[in-house]
Amino acid sequence: MMKEQPVVELRGVWKAFDHHEVLRGISLVLSKGTTLAVMGGSGVGKTVLLRLIAGLARPDTGEIRLFGRNIERLREEHMLALRRRTGFVFQGAALFDSLSVFENVAYPLREHTSWSEGEITDRVHRFLSLVGLPGTDSLLPAELSGGMKKRVGIARALVLEPEVVFFDEPTAGLDPTNARVVGELIAELRSGVCDTAIVVTHDIEFAGMVADQMAILHEGQFAAMGTPGEIHSSNVPAVQAFLAGELLEN
Ligand SMILES: Nc1ncnc2c1ncn2[C@@H]1O[C@H](COP(=O)(O)OP(=O)(O)O)[C@@H](O)[C@H]1O
Ligand SMILES: [Mg+2]
Repeated sequence: MMKEQPVVELRGVWKAFDHHEVLRGISLVLSKGTTLAVMGGSGVGKTVLLRLIAGLARPDTGEIRLFGRNIERLREEHMLALRRRTGFVFQGAALFDSLSVFENVAYPLREHTSWSEGEITDRVHRFLSLVGLPGTDSLLPAELSGGMKKRVGIARALVLEPEVVFFDEPTAGLDPTNARVVGELIAELRSGVCDTAIVVTHDIEFAGMVADQMAILHEGQFAAMGTPGEIHSSNVPAVQAFLAGELLEN
């Protein structure tokens, strides 16, 4: 029998801006059912990495495969089909300010399906309940707290029931209580809606709640990759420095 394709696979990915080499040979394999936390300090290239994987930017060299397909070689319509199988939670939620909560969550459904209004309403309500925000349909983003915005962003990313979700700093900017709520929500989603994810974060406590695999990004490469236990007992200096620094800050 054929082995199941990795959901995401990177080989030797490099990315520079001007003369600044942000990513210098990144390789990783994400299998179905796995949540990988990519950690590292501010400005190390976590968001750049996630944008490459999601097909929102292109690597200079190297290969990126999503569901076994080399995304570099895909035509736009095929990329769109792959994108429908993925969800992206942007840093800072990135809601449409002029659209209500309902319309924000309905947006991917209107974009990618030809469902009836009734089907859309049922699905949106199901996902707003899932993130603990039933009855917020008509609110505008400006009327929401930071934690609520994140949760609407999560509902929007999940509403098409993607096979893999990419989270960029889902707990950043939240107070500890809201960060915990969002962390518990993501941990809970793993056992239901979507069991495969890459979570970019500098929040070690949160990463510990959701990840089976961790990778530490440092100077454009992974300084270490492994289970949370392996990372915490790593003797790689860059990993120890990152863990020590984060623990001091939090
Ligand atoms: N579109 C861009 N143009 C130029 N530089 C960029 C661009 N996107 C990111 N960078 C640079 O790449 C580096 C990594 O950024 P980023 O991935 O956002 O870091 P973080 O790990 O904090 O998410 C930073 O030095 C940033 O200035
Ligand atoms: Mg970032």
